[in-house]
Order: sequence, then structure tokens, then C-alpha cells
Amino acid sequence: MSGVTKAIVEPLLRWYDDGHRDLPWRREPVPYRVWVSEIMLQQTRVEAVRGYFERWMQAFPDVRALAAADEAQVLKLWEGLGYYSRARNLHKAAKRVAERGGVFPKTAAGLAELPGVGPSTAGAIAAFCYSERAVMCDGNAKRVLARVMAIPGAVGERAFETKVWSAAESLLPASEDMAAYTQGLMDVGAEICRKKAPRCSECPVRSFCRAFREGRVEDYPAPRAKRERPVRHATLFFLY
Ligand code: ADE
Repeated sequence: MSGVTKAIVEPLLRWYDDGHRDLPWRREPVPYRVWVSEIMLQQTRVEAVRGYFERWMQAFPDVRALAAADEAQVLKLWEGLGYYSRARNLHKAAKRVAERGGVFPKTAAGLAELPGVGPSTAGAIAAFCYSERAVMCDGNAKRVLARVMAIPGAVGERAFETKVWSAAESLLPASEDMAAYTQGLMDVGAEICRKKAPRCSECPVRSFCRAFREGRVEDYPAPRAKRERPVRHATLFFLY
């Protein structure tokens, strides 16, 4: 990794420190709250999640309360957020954590073994709660890194995924900065480095961004190839 790329860490941290959003799960970054918020935030915007998060915490203030709840109550509180497998997995994982005395795994690798927790979510939780130098590489982070480093290819393609995860790993700052860095990367991806109409003039890392220099920001990442529809062959028999 070049020194120039590593240099995005400082401005990103400063940008985050200067004006980060006040979000309920950031105020008290304990694993239960951070885990629930990260699962809710998958495929759902921050503003839509706020109310759900507060109601959830009232109903299930800790992981044991969630583990002891009825599935029907869990699904009721999720109603409207969509992708219900997320709620079912939260419930299943809560039961597992409750069986271990209500203590969450203390590493990203351990967190990733919980139902519904993928490597990027595990990395985010470990960075926020334990300051572990763990990689978070969600869709927003992938877009930022693909543009800064002009990584060719589309999200989901093997070569692209290898490059973008390795870029994310090589950028990790010292552990005391992990929470702010990870959140800063998520927020730049969501608010500035948007898929369409990116706000490059406000971007704290534009002077390090190769796609910006080349005037090709919206070309990265490449669009996903459409899956070809299978061609159906049919044989028609005409009977006279
Ligand atoms: N999307 C996923 N995780 C997030 C977080 N912690 N803050 C804002 N957006 C997010």
C-alpha cells in the first residue's frame, strides 16, 4: 500500500471528529446495542432505523431479554424493516449469547460465528466496541475505496473483492482510532461518496482520490454484470 493511500486516514478522522452525527447506538457502544444497530442498518437507512432501534431497546434492553422473547414479539417489532431473516437471526444469536452467560465474543472472528453476522458486520462491531483492528468493508466502504484507488471491476466479482478487502485491511489505523475511522469511512460512503451525484467538493479525501483526478468517479465500482437469462430451448411438435 502506498503512503499516499494510507494518508486518507488522517483527513477521514478529522472530518469525522468535526461533525459526526449523533446516533443513539454511538452514545453507548456496548456490543448488544452496536450489534442490533448494525443488523438493522443493513439495507436500511439511518433515519428509518432510529425509531425501530429505540423501540427495540425499550422492549429488549439486553441480550437476555431478547433471548427470552417470543419470536412473534420479535417479528412484530421488526415489522416494516423488511428482510425478516435478519430478525430471526438476531433472535437465534441472542439465544446463543445468552447460553454463554450473556457475554458476546470478544473478537471479530468470534462475532462472525453468530447467525446473521458476516465478516464486515463482525469487523464493525469489533472496531466500535473493542477497538480491534478489524476490517469493515460494506457496500459504502467498497465504493469509497474503489474510487480512491481506482479498483477495476464490480462488487461481487472475485478479483474486485480481493483487491478491495486487501485495500481496506492495509488502511487500518492504530487501534485507538479504529472506532472513529470505521464510522468515518461508513459516513463518507453514505453521505459524500454517494453512488449517484457524489458530493466530491465536500469530500475530505478527494485530493487522494484517483477516480476524482481522472474525472471518472461515477465509473467506480463498475456496474454489476446483468445475469443472462437462461435461453430456453423448446421443441414444438405439430400434430396433424
Ligand atoms: N450503516 C451500517 N452501519 C452504520 C453505522 N454504524 N452508521 C451509519 N450507517 C451505517
